[in-house]
Amino acid sequence: MPERLSAFAEAYGPEIEARLRRLCPRSSLAGAEKLNEALMYAISSGGKRVRPLLCLLAAGVFRTPAETALQIACGVEFLHLSSVILDDLPAMDDAKTRRHRPALHVAYGEAVAILAAMALYAEAFAIFAPWPPIVSKAAQATGCNGMTGGQAADLNGAGASRFEKTTALMRFALTAGGMAGQAAPEQLDALACFGALTGEAYQICDDLLDALGSERLAGKTVGQDLRHGRRVFAPGFGIEEARLRMQGLIEAAVTTLRAGLPACGELDALCEFTEGIAQRAAVLVENTHVDTGGGGRAAGAGGGECGVVAAGPGPER
Ligand code: IPE
Ligand code: IPE
Ligand code: MG
Ligand code: MG
Ligand code: MG
Repeated sequence: MPERLSAFAEAYGPEIEARLRRLCPRSSLAGAEKLNEALMYAISSGGKRVRPLLCLLAAGVFRTPAETALQIACGVEFLHLSSVILDDLPAMDDAKTRRHRPALHVAYGEAVAILAAMALYAEAFAIFAPWPPIVSKAAQATGCNGMTGGQAADLNGAGASRFEKTTALMRFALTAGGMAGQAAPEQLDALACFGALTGEAYQICDDLLDALGSERLAGKTVGQDLRHGRRVFAPGFGIEEARLRMQGLIEAAVTTLRAGLPACGELDALCEFTEGIAQRAAVLVENTHVDTGGGGRAAGAGGGECGVVAAGPGPER
């Protein structure tokens, strides 16, 4: 991990973990013991905590008090956790493994997994409640024209709008950090644009991992897109095109952010994060023997809005 980013990740990591545990919803009702266990399992499963870190960095640009920033960052992670619990269910990706452990529904059953996702989702809004504009942004980001709609598009066999499943929450993570720090409207726009571009690059990298990686490497069930017939890569839009597209997104993200926000260590770390996505993808591709002529489609809603020129044929619509 690059220097700036790893210093922030090391500094914030333990605080994020401790607070997630502290904020973990817990039912006091008799009979809800399994739900409580499942919630702790979901929270203690050791994800990369990318979204809370990005949120904290965005908040740090504006010298937001740590208490406020950490609360909001944990709310963002709860939204993410709820989304991946649902995403793994048999009705969605039917994945058995997440974060190197059995997926929540495998460990606790589908009913408890659905309820745990709901409890985490509700708790995120309880956390955001003292900041009403953040509540409304969270609803927008996770709703029908955001993450939920993006997941629906994804289940429907891909299409450019599938990227919204990931870009919406990344965009929100960055914007919420800026909002917590009273950023000016044009600074929020820069953060939102950076979040969308970074989110799409992140999802392309995740798609490469799904197509080329192993369960050992990914810590989760791979080969999902192929198994579900999602044309993420298809003739005319293969691995190399996806990487080119990703590179364009990353460059645009960094340019947007540097043009829109004051220079500081947090800004450098945000750029390092985004640039690191390309390195991660390169290592993955280089370590995999694949026919890179295969292809798919990749391009996306997030990047398009922010003026990135697609590095391949446009998205299938
Ligand atoms: C997984 O996100 C879902 C995607 C949108 C790609 P992450 O790869 O950030 O998952 P964790 O939180 O680190 O497990
Ligand atoms: C999931 O995308 C996106 C959301 C949960 C909103 P994926 O299905 O690609 O994520 P993984 O690969 O299972 O983590
Ligand atoms: Mg999915
Ligand atoms: Mg999935
Ligand atoms: Mg995936």
